[in-house]
Formats: sequence, structure tokens, C-alpha cells
Amino acid sequence: MPPTPFTHAAVTAKSLAANPERLAQHFGDEEYLLPLWIAEPYLPLAPGVVDAIQARAAAAWYGYEARPPEVVSAFWEWMATRHGWQDAALESLISPSVGTSIGVLIEELTKPGEGVILQPPVFTDFKPLINRAGRTVVRNPLVLTDDGYSMDLSGLEAAAAEPTTRALILCNPHNPVGRVWTAAELAQVAEICARHDVFVIADEIHADLALSPFRFTPFAVAAAGSGVAWAATHGPIKTFGLAGVCDTLLITDHDAAADRFRHRSSQLHLTRNNVFGVAAFAAAYEKGGPWLDELLAQIIDNVGLLRAGLPPEIELVAPQATYLGWLDFRALGMDVPTLADWLAASHLALSPGHWFGREGAGFARMTLAVPAEQIADAIDRLTRAVQAGPGTAPA
Ligand SMILES: Cc1ncc(COP(=O)(O)O)c(C=O)c1O
Repeated sequence: MPPTPFTHAAVTAKSLAANPERLAQHFGDEEYLLPLWIAEPYLPLAPGVVDAIQARAAAAWYGYEARPPEVVSAFWEWMATRHGWQDAALESLISPSVGTSIGVLIEELTKPGEGVILQPPVFTDFKPLINRAGRTVVRNPLVLTDDGYSMDLSGLEAAAAEPTTRALILCNPHNPVGRVWTAAELAQVAEICARHDVFVIADEIHADLALSPFRFTPFAVAAAGSGVAWAATHGPIKTFGLAGVCDTLLITDHDAAADRFRHRSSQLHLTRNNVFGVAAFAAAYEKGGPWLDELLAQIIDNVGLLRAGLPPEIELVAPQATYLGWLDFRALGMDVPTLADWLAASHLALSPGHWFGREGAGFARMTLAVPAEQIADAIDRLTRAVQAGPGTAPA
């Protein structure tokens, strides 16, 4: 019997329609595919944000627009309220994307051939940003035990001590394994990097997605007094599903990094405002709180559903943050191509774990910011696939 036809909510259908080529490229052109691979909310977005964009569209004036200071102050107000973080002395620089910020920092703070530390399995964009700049990836893989993932701090010390190592990209919270690094862990990272003069680029774009009782600690707060040089990426793009509209922020207390970023940004005209982005950015932080609370509750519920419903051969690594579920298929004993084919044959588009580094082999990442019915659908597909057996298409 074929699987039930795909009955997605309207938003998911729209999201599918937005990415058909990418979907087909990775998973084949497949009528029944359940696409849970891109890291964004597949749910109706915050009404205050949608209203703000629609109101801006209704103005029918889309020329140059200066960014009002309230946009950045709305971010800081949000940070103070939700995360207890405020520091008027920090630089808040506008950047078109997280990737732009990291790319510029790598170019400006390191030289060709020098090393940048990554802690895989980790977000796929970091490695090409380093390689395409002609720098070298220095690998310090995360450690997985029965207690979950942790950072290998002695490995980090050794990697940082290499004279050619100049920077660390820290993912906090960590995509894809969902760790929220504790203040103590972050303080140790700060001390190690300060000792070896390694610049910390803290990608904190998932900061708002810590799942209670876990709490996000800004690297800046944990690192205070350590003397480490750092910059952090922030913004509403992941929290509110605005990656196609909004730009982001680069926060730092490092004068030289801020000056160089500003210079590069002005040289390349990176600061042109998108009128919708300006409207959505402020509205997200001013009005999006209740929607985010609902989203977080939905993610927690979905984590519970998934853990209760998955066949025993598949384990969910409990996320402390993000709407990303990191599924462990290793008990089924499939190699990388077999697992990818088996998931595709099960009509599930998940991000295969090896995309995040070789440590991800045997895992896959699943987006959990979806209606509960889609979690149930995914459980159903996985259960039938396990019953059919590893490497076999379900009947
Ligand atoms: C940790 C992390 N950083 C950055 C990004 C992407 O940011 P941008 O599209 O602004 O480069 C993502 C997207 O999923 C992410 O998970």
C-alpha cells in the first residue's frame, strides 16, 4: 500500500513550493516525500511580523530607507527581557547574513593557510566558509557518551595551541546536536582561547530556541573577564523563520574586529536595507514573544511525541535547544549511502548526518517545528521502514 498522500498544512506546502529544485536534487522528485530537512519553522509565522510586512507592502514605496535606531534597540530590549543580557557598550553591527559575518571575520582576522577550529558534527556552512577563504579547518569533534554530547576541551586546548590556529567557530546552541552550552563550559572555552590568542566567533543564531528548563548563556557573559577576543552572531532569522527577509547582527566588544567589519561592509556596500527586512526585524522582537512561547511549547510536545513513538532501533538525542531532532540510526547498522537510500525509500527527506561532518554518519537531522500530525506521520514512516528492515523499501 502506498503511504498516505502528503497532506501538509498550507504553510508547509508553500515552503515546499519555495524549494522544489533543492528538494529534488537531494531526495529525488517524489510525490509522497515528507520534507523535514530545512532548519526553519514549518508553521504559521508570528502574526505581528506578517502584519508588519503586509503593512509595509501596502505603503507602495520601496526606495532607500534608513534603518531606524529602534531596530537595534528592539533587539537589545528582547535580549535583556528573555536572556537577561544587556550591555550598551557592545557594538551591534548590521550584517546581511550569519554567513556574511563569519566570512568577513575569517578574511579580516586570519591569513590564508591559517587554521579555524570547528567542532563537528556542526552546521554545514562553516566548513565551506573556511575552505573557500583558503584557510584550514582544524577539527575538534564533539564527544558523544550516554550523557549526550560535550566539547572535548583538552582537544580544544591542543588545537588552539597550534601556532597557526587563529579562530574558533563556536555554535551556541549547537546545530545539529541541540546542546545549550553551560556557562561553565563556555567559560572554559573562553579561557583556552584567551590563553592561545584564538578569536571566538560565537554563532548564537539559535539563542532564542533553548527548551525549558535549559537556558541560553551568551558567550559574552560567560567569557567576561577572560580576556578572550570574540564576536557573536544574532538576529531573528531562525527564531521567527525570517531567513528570506531579514538581516542579522554581529555583536562584539573587540574594536579592531568591529572596525574591520565596518570597513569591509562599507567597501562592499553590505548595509543596504531591505524595507521588509527592517519592518520584520523590529516587529519580531517587539511583538513576537507570545508566538515564540507557543513555538517552544510545540517543540517540547513534539520531542515528547517523537521519543514515545519512535521504534526502539532509532534514538532521539534529546535536544536542549533548537527545533532540530538529531536521530541516531546506528543500531540499524547501515552505512552512509544505505541509510540515505533507506530514508528516501521511506519517503522522508531528513538531512543526512554526514552532511555535518563524518561524525554524523549513522544519524539524520529532522525539523521538529511542525504540526504534531507531521511528527506522527514521520513516526509512522520510520516504523514501517524499520519493520521492512534496514536497506529495504517499506511495502
Ligand atoms: C547555526 C547556524 N548558523 C547560521 C545559519 C544560517 O544563517 P545565514 O543564512 O544568515 O547565513 C544557520 C541556518 O540554519 C544555522 O543553523
